Amino acid sequence: MDELTMRATTHRDREHRRQPGGFPTCRCSTGRGRRRRRLPTAAAAAATSVSLFLSALLLDAAVAAGDWWKPGPGVSWQMQLAGEIDLSVDVDMYNIDLFDAATSEIEELRDRDVVVICSFSAGTFEEGRLDSDDFESDWLGGGVEDGFEGERWLNITAEGVLTVMTARLDLATNKSCQGVEPSNVQVYLNENSGFNITASDQLTYNTWLAGQAHDRNLSVGLRNDWLQLDDLEPSFDWALSEDCLFQGECGLFSVKF
Ligand SMILES: *[C@@H]1O[C@H](CO)[C@@H](O)[C@H](O)[C@H]1NC(C)=O
Ligand SMILES: *[C@@H]1O[C@H](CO)[C@@H](O)[C@H](O)[C@H]1NC(C)=O
Ligand SMILES: *[C@@H]1O[C@H](CO)[C@@H](O)[C@H](O)[C@H]1NC(C)=O
Ligand SMILES: *[C@@H]1O[C@H](CO)[C@@H](O)[C@H](O)[C@H]1NC(C)=O
Repeated sequence: MDELTMRATTHRDREHRRQPGGFPTCRCSTGRGRRRRRLPTAAAAAATSVSLFLSALLLDAAVAAGDWWKPGPGVSWQMQLAGEIDLSVDVDMYNIDLFDAATSEIEELRDRDVVVICSFSAGTFEEGRLDSDDFESDWLGGGVEDGFEGERWLNITAEGVLTVMTARLDLATNKSCQGVEPSNVQVYLNENSGFNITASDQLTYNTWLAGQAHDRNLSVGLRNDWLQLDDLEPSFDWALSEDCLFQGECGLFSVKF
């Protein structure tokens, strides 16, 4: 596989959560973020010494048609996990929050020929998002262990959930994102989701998301669903894995596959 260089925002005051299903995720914070996030108490003690390990791999260009962005070898990434966006990092690609990023910030990056990938949760409900009121209560399942306050798994087979996600992809287009990274797309691994989501339901959903992104000329990356990587590789353009290690620091590193 190819090599990517990624830079994770480093800061002592960072937030962390571990997801059920064995795919931990981190959200680093500058502490000045415009969204207030509450640390789960268990994670709070560890948060000061948590480090973030990110690795990324490029999927073979199985998704041939379409001229959406596909990362080549040696692409450098800045992943802004939470908090105010530091626009100054000299990298090829930024991965930022779809809702938190202002259109003007995205445009500023694009003016510098930086590729902007916008991330959002496609498998959980989060409070305080622009469209949180669009979610109906019966789509919401069990709470996400160590997730954000009020974060709950979604019934990804419910038609209304697809409608909301479609609107999020439209928002990504409107905000000039060149790609998306729908996260939490492993609902089927969570026994407490409250829904009997099967592996096949998950594949259908994730493949659908990728197709919808491509219909909008958006590049699409896979995160959090490694067990289905082989099946999903033909539909996604790249993949991102994260591991939080409870020691050391977030930092600049490169990974080769
Ligand atoms: C699709 O996206 C690519 C990369 O962002 C861009 O170069 C191209 O112009 C877009 N195509 C259309 C039809 O908008
Ligand atoms: C999830 O959505 C599907 C499709 O709408 C529905 O059949 C199922 O009953 C829902 N599950 C729950 C627990 O509401
Ligand atoms: C995107 O912009 C169009 C045109 O301004 C608008 O009609 C549409 O509602 C917007 N969609 C979203 C999801 O913001
Ligand atoms: C999930 O499936 C089990 C076993 O078939 C059933 O007992 C349970 O009621 C189902 N739960 C939901 C939320 O549909």
